[in-house]
Amino acid sequence: MAEAKLIDGKAFAAGLRERVGKGVAELKAAAGSTPGLATVLVGADPASQVYVRSKGKMAAELGMTRFEHRLPAETGEEELLALVRKLNADPAVNGILVQLPLPRQIDTSRVLLAVDPDKDVDGLHPINVGRLGSIAPGALLDFPVPCTPLGCSMLLADALGPLAGRHAVVIGRSNLVGRPVAQLLLRSSCTVTIGHSRTRDLPALCRLADILVVAIGKPGFVRGDWIKSGATVIDVGINRVPAAEGKTRLVGDVAFAEALPIAAQITPVPGGVGPMTVACLMYNTLQAARRKAGLPFVAV
Ligand code: GUN
Repeated sequence: MAEAKLIDGKAFAAGLRERVGKGVAELKAAAGSTPGLATVLVGADPASQVYVRSKGKMAAELGMTRFEHRLPAETGEEELLALVRKLNADPAVNGILVQLPLPRQIDTSRVLLAVDPDKDVDGLHPINVGRLGSIAPGALLDFPVPCTPLGCSMLLADALGPLAGRHAVVIGRSNLVGRPVAQLLLRSSCTVTIGHSRTRDLPALCRLADILVVAIGKPGFVRGDWIKSGATVIDVGINRVPAAEGKTRLVGDVAFAEALPIAAQITPVPGGVGPMTVACLMYNTLQAARRKAGLPFVAV
């Protein structure tokens, strides 16, 4: 069988960012308002620092206003909640992103609950989780949807067209990826099964998938012979592993070289889902600013 076609998330994300940038300029012209994104980082986790920096930089590049808040690792919950409330009340802020994970002394669910649902550009507030879980098939996604799952569904729609009737298997059940991806695929009228660490026979479940989305954070966990011939594989994993000469490299949750001759289409790591996350955050921030300005929903 021929090698799988690579799903180029890097190129798709570049196109999405360009469309968002145009949307920002149009919003300024139509309503005189500039989308504002506030990022909040507690502590100095190196990976989180890199992510937050790239989010702020991208917002500025697309013509948005960025507000960067860095708090020390020992920040208390009340102090963080006070900052969130201040950002909720600030009319220049359309989107609030509290980078996860938060230090142990802070109750993450209390913080997510404190974010104004209209400014919740991560889509993690229970109101937005509920909107995603209860929406009728075909209805508009006119509320914030978690960024990585939104990116996965955009790549799938681009790669496959209508998804109705396909069997989608999602491996992973996290709030950030697995659950919201499953909801989005259900909304696209897929038949959805969620597998996880306690599933009895994961390889057999994966072999049923027309669409296989893997988000478990284990390098090369899904093997080639778990994949149905002709399936579309979305690998959400970003794992740093040792490489030659004492260096490291990034790999996904799928054994990529094994999957290549079996799948019909697959996202590489890096360059697949990864670049979509920040692009979708920009998309969510623009949409939040458009809603605040009273403009109708348009897909960008
Ligand atoms: N940490 C890892 N991924 C994410 C994300 O999508 N949003 C937030 N807020 N934190 C994260």
